[in-house]
Amino acid sequence: MVISTVGVIGAGIMGSGIAQVAARAGYSVIMRDISDSFVSRGLGVIRKNIDRDVQKNRMTREDGDSILRRLTGTTDIGDLARCDIVIEAAVEQMELKKKIYIEMDSVCPPEVIFASNTSGLSITEMAAVTKRANRFIGMHFFNPVPVMKLVELIKGAETDGDTLLAATDLVEKFGKQSIMVNEAPLFAVNRILVPMLNEAMFVLMEGVASAADIDKGMMLGANHPIGPLALSDLVGLDTLLMVVETLYNETGDSKYRPCPLLRKLVRAGHLGRKTGRGFYDYSEAK
Ligand code: CAA
Ligand code: NAD
Repeated sequence: MVISTVGVIGAGIMGSGIAQVAARAGYSVIMRDISDSFVSRGLGVIRKNIDRDVQKNRMTREDGDSILRRLTGTTDIGDLARCDIVIEAAVEQMELKKKIYIEMDSVCPPEVIFASNTSGLSITEMAAVTKRANRFIGMHFFNPVPVMKLVELIKGAETDGDTLLAATDLVEKFGKQSIMVNEAPLFAVNRILVPMLNEAMFVLMEGVASAADIDKGMMLGANHPIGPLALSDLVGLDTLLMVVETLYNETGDSKYRPCPLLRKLVRAGHLGRKTGRGFYDYSEAK
């Protein structure tokens, strides 16, 4: 099948990144969020990233402008009917995602592919609320999307070969690489990465080391590009808590219990970079 228009649900950290990468790859993009302010914020982030690329001579102003022209923001879910594939990057909650898919299923023609960017929820469970479980797939991008090279592709119980082929091809056109993962809580990468982030929080909570020393330790001692606490702030602590909870609830294994410090920060509204405070304070950052 030929994909020319990509729909994106959610204009947050991931939705705006996916929209940017799709438009950069030459696709027309329709990005939908629930309010104009969220849509404008997402488009603003993309504009800033493109301006930086132009300033740093990574692309011409004309190329930057044509990427921006390929992007449309909307709050109307009906606009997604024109898309060939819709990639959903809304909040990491199963019930919300199911509601979105039921609505999308009634709006989009049956041949439109639905792809979820969930960090670890069941693709099969989301697909089951639609009448197109065969055209439903997990496409798990990594943050920051314009930089990270991987997309995990996750087959649900009913995902068919054509859908998998179309998603594999799209990842390549986006300039990224894919790995194939069978459905399991948190798939492959997060299953390994997220318990490490959660453990770093226990190390902090137990007073084993300071936040700065934990991060320095993992950067210099394990060659990670940023430390686990800074990475948690980048991901968003609310999202991370929901992801750890998925792993804990799905496996029932106590080794995956969410760190109480993570829960406490989320309850206090300190969600990381997106609210200006998490394990670190970003209020001075531009
Ligand atoms: N959007 C676009 N580009 C960005 C960006 C963003 N949000 N953040 C950084 N960049 C780019 C910029 O182009 C920047 O280069 P310039 O300054 O020349 O423009 C370049 O990355 C380097 O950025 P910085 O110098 O600011 O900082 P850095 O060298 O530490 O790199 C980083 C930033 C790329 C985020 C790096 O720290 C890194 O790779 N960290 C690990 C990221 C990671 O592990 N991601 C996975 C998270 S888990 C996940 O995504 C799955 C899930 O389901 C939760
Ligand atoms: P975010 O909180 O930055 O953005 C979520 C956006 O979804 C918000 O703008 C919200 O208004 C919007 N939204 C909520 N309900 C909606 C609806 N009905 N229709 C359209 N938009 C709606 O979250 P995020 O970090 O971008 O995460 C989005 C998804 O991507 C989650 O499933 C998350 O697990 C996954 N993910 C996140 C990361 C990460 O590092 N943050 C990495 C990979 C995958």
